[in-house]
Amino acid sequence: MAQLWGGRFTKETDKLVYAFNASIGFDQKFFHEDVAGSRAHVKMLCKQGILTDEERDQILAGLDGIEADVDAGKLKITDTYEDIHSFVEANLIDRIGDPGKKLHTGRSRNDQVALDMRLYTRGQVQEMDGLLKHFLETILSVMEANVDTIMPGFTHLQKAQPITLAHHMGAYFEMFKRDRLRLHDIYERMNFCPLGSGALAGTTYPLDREFTASELGFYGPTANSMDGVSDRDYLIEFLSALSTMMMHLSRFSEEVIIWNSNEYRFVEIDDAYSTGSSIMPQKKNPDIAELVRGKTGRVYGALMSLLTTMKGIPLAYNKDMQEDKELAFDAMDTAKGCVALFDGMLATMKFNNRVMADSARHGFTNATDAADYLVNHGVPFRDAHGIIGQIVLHCIDRGIAIDDMSLEDLRSFSDKFEADIFDAISMETCVNKRLTVGAPGHDAMLSHIRLCREYLS
Ligand code: ARG
Repeated sequence: MAQLWGGRFTKETDKLVYAFNASIGFDQKFFHEDVAGSRAHVKMLCKQGILTDEERDQILAGLDGIEADVDAGKLKITDTYEDIHSFVEANLIDRIGDPGKKLHTGRSRNDQVALDMRLYTRGQVQEMDGLLKHFLETILSVMEANVDTIMPGFTHLQKAQPITLAHHMGAYFEMFKRDRLRLHDIYERMNFCPLGSGALAGTTYPLDREFTASELGFYGPTANSMDGVSDRDYLIEFLSALSTMMMHLSRFSEEVIIWNSNEYRFVEIDDAYSTGSSIMPQKKNPDIAELVRGKTGRVYGALMSLLTTMKGIPLAYNKDMQEDKELAFDAMDTAKGCVALFDGMLATMKFNNRVMADSARHGFTNATDAADYLVNHGVPFRDAHGIIGQIVLHCIDRGIAIDDMSLEDLRSFSDKFEADIFDAISMETCVNKRLTVGAPGHDAMLSHIRLCREYLS
């Protein structure tokens, strides 16, 4: 058991207590961030005349060696150390002796862990942003290829009005774009450096916090040392943004699962992204979409857990805050994996354009347009609605679409129908007449696609 704080104790820590208290099992995830923070701290200590040039160089060389050995697998991070901070410091002292003991001058593990977690999370925000950007590119290419691919749009999971696949994908483009924008907002608020906050009240050493902040790529130091060591709301914001993103991904998954079902057959998921059944040879299951939908709960769980952990903690640091890590790490890894896999699944998915168009045609999705036709020929809307309702019933009885009826049959319901009715209620007309901003009509869709392209470039 290697601890940094044995001085005032007369007894060994109980083994169970040691294990319960230790965080090395999970905080090794930010080993590199811990070393980066120490490098900046040491450079600053030397610049401020607190360490000599020689001590700085020895410490930096020691940190380089530790990092290289861990990366090469020559040095193992084991649970003989309480946490990753102790691991680095103890190994530094082993390597370079006395100068190593000066590393922690003017620093507490409280501002150290606050820094490490923030650096790690900042990196995760950036990684997530990159994955989402790539995913948006994939969605946009499906949009560009399917401006004229007709499909039914649904409300209540009942066919409602015809739309296009580009339009449907465009809805998701907007959702994931907002998810990215949320990440950018979070980055702007979180990118301040807590190092130099000390345990809670700063330090008596003349630290240059501007220097370490800029050395580590932050906009500047945090403005209050108690807040610096005990703020985790940037992490709550990130978990919240990830939860919202997972909610979007889960809705998309649900649709893919429905579209891939035997009844719908709108899409076929690539073999590489589906799995079979051990007993039913005919099966090709949408497991990836189901797992993404399922894993959404884990990410929500991490958010709820941290909100609950933080809710009653008095200022400043308390050990409760060690609980900010495991579930948050899991949520970050889960969310990244889900976006990457869904992206790949979408990129390789086949859309059955004919099935989708047939489905739109056979679901009376043009009933509103047929009523509008009568309105344009002088029938009050309420009456037109009633007439088309009767026509729909007539068609259901016969298993046909409105466009399958003859003009004569149509005229037996209303003499306002003329030969141009068939053109007026064709799927193409129904879609392309919808030209308002944000609608699926060809030109409106092309404008949206242009905006999406501009956004991504
Ligand atoms: N493992 C601790 C955490 O994750 C590091 C900070 C320890 N500070 C302390 N005063 N015990 O929060």
